[in-house]
Amino acid sequence: MKEQLSQILSAALAEVEHASSKAELEAARVKYLGKKGELTAILRGMGKLSAEERPVIGQLANEVRAKIEEAIEREQAELAQRLIAHKLQTETIDVTLPGQKLPLAKRHPLNTVLYELYDIFTGMGFSIAEGPEVELDYYNFEALNIPKNHPARDTQDTFYINDNIVLRTQTSPMQIRTMEKQKPPIRVIAPGRVYRSDAVDATHSPVFHQIEGLVVDKGITMGDLKGTLEVFAKRLYGEEARVRFRPHHFPFTEPSAEMDVTCFKCHGAGCPLCKGEGFIEILGCGMVHPKVLSVCGIDPEEYSGFAFGIGLERIVMQRYKIDDLRLFYEDDLRFLTQF
Ligand code: DAH
Repeated sequence: MKEQLSQILSAALAEVEHASSKAELEAARVKYLGKKGELTAILRGMGKLSAEERPVIGQLANEVRAKIEEAIEREQAELAQRLIAHKLQTETIDVTLPGQKLPLAKRHPLNTVLYELYDIFTGMGFSIAEGPEVELDYYNFEALNIPKNHPARDTQDTFYINDNIVLRTQTSPMQIRTMEKQKPPIRVIAPGRVYRSDAVDATHSPVFHQIEGLVVDKGITMGDLKGTLEVFAKRLYGEEARVRFRPHHFPFTEPSAEMDVTCFKCHGAGCPLCKGEGFIEILGCGMVHPKVLSVCGIDPEEYSGFAFGIGLERIVMQRYKIDDLRLFYEDDLRFLTQF
């Protein structure tokens, strides 16, 4: 029996040592130490031994079991170690390989200039408001002193949702919405999309952008209007820029004007870009009509104000020498990546 035990021991140790996977190791364990294993069989047969032999063989068998178990444990740890080493070898990452470049988005030129306008006007104490593009006829026209039969509606034909709801043709309805909600002093700009039923060409689009401005307080005069808009023009175009105001007509301001700024190309001398004028028109403006103040519950005897509307596209086209408005809306990367 002693003989048998030492054979079992050396056979088991050899098998355990050669096991190259967890499964093989487990198979070896079952073969020797399992319920029907070789060592277990010996222990079962011990009943046949004499009383002197039994403890000797019993002790020996226990030693053999302990040695096999120890070998299995050792081998288990070694296998796990080898597995990690193998993974480290085969799963290395070559950090010197060039990465895949993600194209970074850039700010749209319309936004670049819009954010500049925000800086200029918030620097003068204006806040920024936004309002709906689908607008009531009342706000877009009626409250701005443009009744249903007014000829000013012809130049601002738009898309009608129904008789009373339109896509706004201007950001001026934000004047009314602001004055309804807020009492003077008011200093606000309102940027956003506006719509007109114009055919698309290099200078027209059915969708474009305006920035509305409104100031209402006690004692506001045309001098405040001119001063504020001149500062705006100089901040945007540079200190050498000059402005001029031409009388104009808008139903919701009285008096009304258009403001021109010296042509950025010829600086006032006259060139093909400004059609020999030396100036380029950039906005409409005026003193808020007393009727408009009244409609909003603001007493025109106590308060006065000025308003202006800037066309964003025109300014951006001048800035970057863009000659076709359509480029802004086509999402063509060849265009957009230039800015
Ligand atoms: N809303 C006018 C337009 O789209 C522009 C404008 C003119 C706005 C004079 C104003 C203003 O606030 O005072 O043609």
